[in-house]
Amino acid sequence: MSDWSPDSWQARVAAQQPVYPDRDALQRAIGEIRALPPLVTSWEIEALRDELGRAARGEAFLLQGGDCAESFDDCRSESIAAKLKILLQMSLVLVHGTRRQVIRVGRIAGQYAKPRSADNETRDGVTLPAYRGDLVNREAFTEEDRTPDPMLMLRAYERAGLTLNFIRALTDGGFADLHHPEYWDISFARDARHAGEYEKIVESIRDAVSFVSRVTGLDAAILKRVELFTSHEGLALHYEAAQTRQVPRRDGWYNLSTHMPWIGMRTAQLDGAHVEFHRGIRNPLGIKIGPAMTAEWLTELLDVLDPDRIPGRITLIARMGAGKVAAGLPPLVEAVRRAGRTPLWVSDPMHGNTETLASGYKTRRFDKIQAEIEESFAIHEELGSTLGGIHFELTGENVTECIGGASGLVEADLERAYRSRVDPRLNYEQALELAMLIARHLRATPVRSR
Ligand code: PEP
Ligand code: CO
Repeated sequence: MSDWSPDSWQARVAAQQPVYPDRDALQRAIGEIRALPPLVTSWEIEALRDELGRAARGEAFLLQGGDCAESFDDCRSESIAAKLKILLQMSLVLVHGTRRQVIRVGRIAGQYAKPRSADNETRDGVTLPAYRGDLVNREAFTEEDRTPDPMLMLRAYERAGLTLNFIRALTDGGFADLHHPEYWDISFARDARHAGEYEKIVESIRDAVSFVSRVTGLDAAILKRVELFTSHEGLALHYEAAQTRQVPRRDGWYNLSTHMPWIGMRTAQLDGAHVEFHRGIRNPLGIKIGPAMTAEWLTELLDVLDPDRIPGRITLIARMGAGKVAAGLPPLVEAVRRAGRTPLWVSDPMHGNTETLASGYKTRRFDKIQAEIEESFAIHEELGSTLGGIHFELTGENVTECIGGASGLVEADLERAYRSRVDPRLNYEQALELAMLIARHLRATPVRSR
């Protein structure tokens, strides 16, 4: 790695980067972040990589989820607690279904930058830079708001720190009484096809939780060991590089802004800056895989990003779209296997299923999300491979952004509580229901270990 440094990406073409007009202000912001303490630690990163290695072997299951884009305004106790609650509940439902350990990873405490399909946006003849997330610029359509402001990186670092501080306190202190019936809100499922089954799942989780607390005599102790790791797209490279450091008594470099950065679909060019940056850090890496990914491109990416074949290093997050998995996924699974590699395969059933309605709302249909999950499980099973995780865009709150699910959200409901600034998220009920459906599916199929 003698030819790598946290800044070696700067010699490559960096897609999806803001243009900062004030270079001095950029250097000042980077300098300030560099001097501040890290958000996560190297031993947490190492622990997650080991756990992901177990998931790749079929011994654990990854649940990764959170906002498409976190916003600074949403750094509030209610929304953080709600996100933690839904991830925790989904994970318990999945434990029930998979009989495996479930690794929880939030899209949280750093998911503030977004790739955009166009660099600029034009309204009424006025063209301004596109909104790229709160880490880069502001959403309001004025020249001042849309001009990339490097100080927002510092604000993002601080918001990430505040979010993580609250998460760490909650997960350390017996966050919630899981066995209290009112904590589990499954009233939405009353009329669902599998309502009886949902009730049973929750009932047996509650029983298990109260059994453990009775036996140990320590209520909070059950949740003392709740772990939630963080992840975000490793997109804004100045932000990532400023937090990439060496630590005492360990080799190599760690990106200490998050446990698990991922490379987005739009920034996976082999000779691009994002691949250059990520190859040099020791964190476990996600790679998003869309329908345009080829077997050759993917195996070359793996050679560059994981030359030493470290277990847990690579998580491949396929986001093909319902109906496209059968054509898109098998050649990739086969090529990766031929290359002698065993990454963790995950399904992101959200990003290939986004549509814009006549009303202008961007949405996703529950049925398509469910279909892509089922197709993905089936394809992996057919190929003797393992789908070892799932990647969702969700919120713990009662938003109306995706259509469908047992609560019966329809198009006309979208305007009621559409709050996402970028992609539509599953709400509490839709997310919990999908976890139930996955658990149901997994219980019906035997666990396969490689
Ligand atoms: C995302 O995860 O929000 C995203 C932009 O994904 P992708 O790179 O897969 O389009
Ligand atoms: Co998204």
